[in-house]
Amino acid sequence: MKYRHSFHAGNFADVHKHVTLLALISALQRKDKGFLYLETHAGRGAYDISTPNADAAGGIGRLGGAPPAAAEIAAYLALLGRLRAQLKQRHLYPGSPLLALASLRPQDRAVLVELQGSEVNALKHALADYAQAHAPAPATQVERGDGYARLRAWLPPPERRGLTFIDPPYEQTGEDFTAVTQALAEGLRRFPTGIMAAWYPIKDERTTNAWLQACRRALTVPLLVSELWLFPRDSRVALNGSGLLIANPPHPILGHMQLWLPQLQAALSGAPAAGSRALMLAD
Ligand SMILES: C[S@@+](CC[C@H](N)C(=O)[O-])C[C@H]1O[C@@H](n2cnc3c(N)ncnc32)[C@H](O)[C@@H]1O
Repeated sequence: MKYRHSFHAGNFADVHKHVTLLALISALQRKDKGFLYLETHAGRGAYDISTPNADAAGGIGRLGGAPPAAAEIAAYLALLGRLRAQLKQRHLYPGSPLLALASLRPQDRAVLVELQGSEVNALKHALADYAQAHAPAPATQVERGDGYARLRAWLPPPERRGLTFIDPPYEQTGEDFTAVTQALAEGLRRFPTGIMAAWYPIKDERTTNAWLQACRRALTVPLLVSELWLFPRDSRVALNGSGLLIANPPHPILGHMQLWLPQLQAALSGAPAAGSRALMLAD
């Protein structure tokens, strides 16, 4: 596998997925009872974006000036600022494990799965740095393994409350789309009331739509689609847009998303071809 998320950290897709991830965690925390945060493709947890990186410049770099007003975007930027200050790293871009961990309460816990040994080691270092700067950190297990397979071991959680986040590299685009559909189906079969969120790239319309329809047929729970694109959805740019399919979305999130998503898109690109949508694919 060649994929290294370092080359893309902080890009517009990271911004989209991480604002949404924090909103999902916040929705789960409206109840006191703890939950499991399970991440199947964790990455290295922390990225240095000090060297000029076009991906980050077109993502998090665009939110520096006058950021959008939506509470969910403000919460994401506040957490980013807090982590940079706590870890004393001005150019840190926190990955999803670090953002999630910094949001979890003592009664919540995290399981983070990553396949590549170098990324697992870096993730452990990032989490140790965080724990040192911010003890006590919530209970966390890091596992080296295949996230798709390990999902079966961790679901359902004894808490009976959980958020599973699936964020593969899509190096083998078709294979990852199929594996994600199967992982969602298996996860929901084991834990029908759990929230599951899967990220997907928008590269060409036919693939995206065919996959969404396959998920609608295979999954029998409410499904929310959140998409943000900066380039024509069907163009030959490598990554035109970022999508999240959310199974069992917490109730008020769609309405909030329909407010924050257009704000996020406008901040990331004013190009006429850019756009966003948030809708229920299945109720
Ligand atoms: C897009 S990155 C994850 C980024 C991270 N979720 C974030 O938002 O900060 C995808 C990661 O999945 C890892 N990976 C690839 N195949 C995997 C598998 N089958 N199981 C677990 N991890 C895998 C890659 O090594 C890479 O670190």
